[in-house]
Amino acid sequence: MKLATARLSLVPLDPDADAEALHTAYGDPEVMAWWTRPETASAAETRLLLAEDNAQSGAMLWTIRAENDTVVGLVGLLGAVEIPGLTWILAKRAWGRGYATEAAAAVIEHAFVHVGLDRVEAWVQASNTRSLAVCRRLDMTCRGMLAQRYTHQAHPHEVVVLGRTNTRKRQEPSPVLHVEPVLPVADVPATLELLQPILSARVGFAVGEPIEVAGLVLGPWSVGPSLRLVTASQSQSGPVTLALDVGTEFDSLYQRAIEAESGQVEPPVEQPWGVREFVFQLPDGHRLEFSAPA
Ligand SMILES: CC(C)(COP(=O)(O)OP(=O)(O)OC[C@H]1O[C@@H](n2cnc3c(N)ncnc32)[C@H](O)[C@@H]1OP(=O)(O)O)[C@@H](O)C(=O)NCCC(=O)NCCS
Repeated sequence: MKLATARLSLVPLDPDADAEALHTAYGDPEVMAWWTRPETASAAETRLLLAEDNAQSGAMLWTIRAENDTVVGLVGLLGAVEIPGLTWILAKRAWGRGYATEAAAAVIEHAFVHVGLDRVEAWVQASNTRSLAVCRRLDMTCRGMLAQRYTHQAHPHEVVVLGRTNTRKRQEPSPVLHVEPVLPVADVPATLELLQPILSARVGFAVGEPIEVAGLVLGPWSVGPSLRLVTASQSQSGPVTLALDVGTEFDSLYQRAIEAESGQVEPPVEQPWGVREFVFQLPDGHRLEFSAPA
């Protein structure tokens, strides 16, 4: 189904007919700097990529056509994803005119009104400021962050997941905003001193003299993943294991863990589910499993 906006027409993608025009975007390394793969080498390769994307179950992709029906980019919903995911790309010459926002707004309207989707989200590299700005203009808000590594890149990067709910359908139930594991330890101040530098953590609060309960926020902001340390009592259960996704910080964190004065470090291993993992064991026996994309 074709869609129209004030300045644009969105025409369902035809990989054979549109590859040549879209190669201006997919073949440009600057445009593809944040894409899941490097730029394509030819229009034929662009056609293959578009055909693959278009064939994914649930995919709905449109070419973005500006004045004189010229194809300037692609917008739509990705297939083969659990939560409906938006995608957009524009040839460099079409940046800075509001086309991506205008086209994506029409796709969201279509997704909510005609397809009846509950929500749409977008995964955007934290450094892709233009794409983040598109999300912001579309009233998409941050739902969380994760780490990802593209196969053509040596290191993982941070990804912001932004989402918008179809408020026509129903209000969102209150989500769980945060889960904070509580670690009983024999010596709260010593554990704080041990973990704070390894985790680059901030002490959110500390109660008691000497400290009996403390909240460690794992990052430099007011909110974020956190741990609560409490003084262990006889009645409390034994050691626990916490899994922490640390993304791009994996190597530096491992370095800091092996330099720590106490605790034991098990060296990194690659797990079959695609992550690298190392374990830091606290003197109390609690195991912190740090992971990042392999
Ligand atoms: C992401 C991408 C589509 C954003 O393109 P963009 O041109 O910055 O975004 P828009 O088309 O919404 O245009 C917004 C800009 O047009 C300007 N603009 C000019 N005329 C306008 C008009 N009539 N109406 C609205 N905005 C207008 C806006 O002020 C804004 O300018 P700014 O960048 O100086 O703030 C583009 O950078 C791209 O193709 N990137 C590579 C592919 C990619 O990363 N895709 C996303 C993967 S998650």
